Formats: sequence, C-alpha cells, structure tokens
Amino acid sequence: MKYQFPKDFLWGAGTSAHQVEGGNWNSDWWEFEHTKGTPIAEPSGDTCDQYHRYPQDIALMADLGLNAYRFGIEWARIEPEDGEFSLAALNHYLDVCRVCREQGIKPVITLNHNSLPRWVARKGGYLWDGLPKVFARYCGKVTEHLKEYLGYVLTLNEPDLTANLGIRHGMFPRLDTVRLKGNKAAERSEKVMLLTHPAARETIKTIAPHAKVGWTLAVPDWGGFDGPEEELMKQPMVRHWEGPFLEATRGDDFVGLNSYTRLYVSKAYNGMIHGGLGLGLMFSGNPKGTRLTQMGWEFAPESLGGAIRRTYQKTGLPILITENGFPGDDDRERVEFINGAMESLKGCMEEGLPVQGYLYWSLLDNFEWNKGFAMHFGLVAVDLNTFERKPKPSAHLLGKIARQNAI
Ligand code: FCB
Repeated sequence: MKYQFPKDFLWGAGTSAHQVEGGNWNSDWWEFEHTKGTPIAEPSGDTCDQYHRYPQDIALMADLGLNAYRFGIEWARIEPEDGEFSLAALNHYLDVCRVCREQGIKPVITLNHNSLPRWVARKGGYLWDGLPKVFARYCGKVTEHLKEYLGYVLTLNEPDLTANLGIRHGMFPRLDTVRLKGNKAAERSEKVMLLTHPAARETIKTIAPHAKVGWTLAVPDWGGFDGPEEELMKQPMVRHWEGPFLEATRGDDFVGLNSYTRLYVSKAYNGMIHGGLGLGLMFSGNPKGTRLTQMGWEFAPESLGGAIRRTYQKTGLPILITENGFPGDDDRERVEFINGAMESLKGCMEEGLPVQGYLYWSLLDNFEWNKGFAMHFGLVAVDLNTFERKPKPSAHLLGKIARQNAI
C-alpha cells in the first residue's frame, strides 16, 4: 500500500554530542565514567570521533537520500567554565550547520542531551535552581552564533526520563543523581527543568523568532492497562512521567517525541513499570515469550502510533519524531523494525495527525551511556579502531523511503 508523505517531511537520523563526538572530557558524563563504583560499562573515549568526521557523516546522509540530521551541541565545550565561552567551539558547530546546508540536510539541534559541563554538575546539575538562568544564557550565545541556520531547536532531551527513571528511581543513574535520588530530589529536578525549558525558549525566540522551539520527551506506548485514561493517569509512574512534562509544551512550536517500545503498567503492581528497561533491571511485566531487543525492550515497532496519538491528544502540537529505533546486531531485524514503524506512522498520517518528520536513532553505532559500545542502534556501523563507517541495508532502506517521500 503506497503512502505519499507531505512535502517538506523530514527524513533523517540523530546523534547526541557525548555519544559520538569523542574526547568530551569536560562533561559530567566523562567524570561519571571515570568515577569509581559507577555502573558504566566502559568510558566513551574517542567514540566515533565525529568531532573531526562530521563532514563525512553529513555527506553520507545526503548520499543515502536523507534530508535532516539531529545532532547535539555540547555545552561543556561552548562554556567550559562559568561565563567563559569558546568562540572556537561555537565556530565548530557553525561549520557543522554550514556543511549540512551545503549537503541539503536540515539541522535539528539539541542544546542539551544528558551531559552537562562539570561546573554545572558541581552546582547540582538538573537539581540546581540556578540552571534556568545559566542555561538560557548559553542558549542565547548559541542562538546568536548559529541564527541563520536554525530551524528546529530542542532545549533539553528527555527531562521526563531524567527526573523519573534517573532521579526518582535511580535506574538511569548519572553523576548528580548518584548523590541525590528519590522523590524529593525528583520533584526538585522536575521544578528546575520546568523552569529551564521556557527560559531557554524565550531567549532563543527573542534572538531568532524564526526558530521552532520544543523539547524531546520520552513517551512510550503504555501496555497491559485495561482501565480508562483517567485511571492510567492515576498510576504514579505515568502521572509523574507524562503529566507535567507534556503540559509544559504549552507555548512550544512542536514536541520532539522519542519512542522505542511499549511499557507495561498494571494496577496490581501499583504503577511500577514492567518491562526490560535495558538497565540491568528486568521486571516481570512483559507478557511471556515477548520478543526482546538487545536493550531488553519489547520489539514493538507498532507502538510508535500509540505514542504519537497520546502525545497529540495531550498537547495538540505538531510532532517531530526525534528518536525511534532498534538496538541489535542483526540488521534484518532493523529493517523489519523500520518497516513496522512506517506502517504505524502511516496510520497516524492517514488520521491527519501533524507529524512533521521521522528521525531514526541513531545514525551511527555509538556510545550508549551506561551500556557503552555493546548496543548497536546505528544505520551505519563504525569500526572503533579505524573510525571507518559502513552503512547497513537499513540505512539504504530509510534513504529510499526518504528519496521517494513515500512508503
Ligand atoms: C534515549 C536517549 C538517546 C539514546 C537512546 C537509546 O533515551 O535520548 O541518547 O541513548 O535513548
């Protein structure tokens, strides 16, 4: 069944600075990787050396037929110490944007993706009430510098996951949350991030009114719950995770949606999440015999539609799929996953839902936070000894869909 996507639909892939650039030693993640007793599998080191290889990666995307690239700007490089800005680092990202334009690729920029400058982390990171002010100042610098290239701009990546899985439950630990976790800390970080986002948005919009500003939220499809929506929203995990963060998109131009799988909620378990979260924790909730990915998540490409519908119902905003993808070594499964996700997306498009693009996670096999290099999400394999890139069949599939703007 053919489906033609609207003109200007974005087709691309994503990365974040810390996961692919390499040598991001001034960030709290690097420090975390080198702190004794933390559960990080291995240090990020040079990772894909993308800090030096971006022209090649962007050209590769263009060759494949993609038209958009979501990448991260690393705050730890731009502002290595409080109030000290690096012109060289700003120029680096300016050049990334310039190369994108040269290759016909639209940049989708993430201003903060999990990693913070060490000086920010020392003050409390996502729990520091000074964060909104300094983050907005940094966003202002970046916006001034990259202004003419800005289109879609994301402030924070997955604040909902940071506050809940990270800080509340300690399942996705980070330097600042190892020290502080639990409900009180989660509430504080939620408050801080809910102020940080609009402060950044206002600054960006004042300098570049043409920029479309939003943030990325991790919205799963909730499975195994047979009650009405009001009941689902009463489940502590769902309420904390979705409620305030989806609501805080009011005033944004769009929502960045990250969605990979279905998570099971059941009344019997008092709202705990069941499902492999890929963090060494397996709960009992996945139905028996569930097909799992390398991360331990349910293989459920069809769950994308549920996440899109939910996000739209709650926000009424245009949606950019900023992350959706398959972790695993067998690329045939990735092809199957992308085809399944496309079917699901098609259903939403036919219902008239305003989805503006699909950015697969990830362009490259890269450093997957706690799990290190063992997880393979990429459309493109990377040889970590030579940094050689090898597109997989799935990369050609997504490129073909992009060229035809159709499935
Ligand atoms: C998301 C993160 C991204 C990547 C994927 C697998 O939560 O935003 O950096 O790690 O998960």
